[in-house]
Amino acid sequence: MKIVAIVGSPRPKGNTNILVDKALAESAKFNIQTEKIILQQYEVNPCVGHDDCTSFKSCRQRDDTKWILERFREADGVILATPVYYYDVSSQMKAFIDRNYFIYTHKQVYKAKVVGIIIVAAEAGIEDALHTLGMFVNELGIEEDKRFVVSGYADKLGEAKQNLHLGEAAQKLGQRMAQIVMEQKK
Ligand SMILES: Cc1cc2nc3c(=O)[nH]c(=O)nc-3n(C[C@H](O)[C@H](O)[C@H](O)COP(=O)(O)O)c2cc1C
Repeated sequence: MKIVAIVGSPRPKGNTNILVDKALAESAKFNIQTEKIILQQYEVNPCVGHDDCTSFKSCRQRDDTKWILERFREADGVILATPVYYYDVSSQMKAFIDRNYFIYTHKQVYKAKVVGIIIVAAEAGIEDALHTLGMFVNELGIEEDKRFVVSGYADKLGEAKQNLHLGEAAQKLGQRMAQIVMEQKK
């Protein structure tokens, strides 16, 4: 049983990562295997929009996205976490989302039955980022009642540590996701 978190913040010690770590630590208490993938630490190039993508056996791009997508597709639960950048998800997260187009054109499926969304902004744009992630999550085929969202405000590096309410919400998200993953396995 595994939960994989895809993180769109380039700051390993930033606010998004703080909340993701809290969520995953709670999931791990249920003996769920966890993995965090910080997109910035890998090569995830933007989709280049081949018209004939459908006819390829594998995506023409040779970067880290192939294995990241494999882990993402095989996970029992997934977390998508991003800071708000210009009223939307970060470009790292958007590149990852777009690279799922190959999965879409090849009608490949995602195993996850539960998803967590974590969004952090300094002051505005959470709704917009949530819209982007929500539309992507629709593609994963996860039921509405198995989608969990934690969002809130923090700006400077590590500031989310002081926001106890946000931290607890992330922990709850991790717990709830783990419980659902376990229920699905029964
Ligand atoms: C390029 C860039 C664009 C940003 N755009 C927004 C924005 O539109 N709205 C907002 O509230 N905060 C914005 N921020 C602030 C970040 O969302 C905020 O600092 C957040 O805590 C960063 O998360 P992190 O620590 O996980 O990287 C922006 C920051 C950067 C670097």
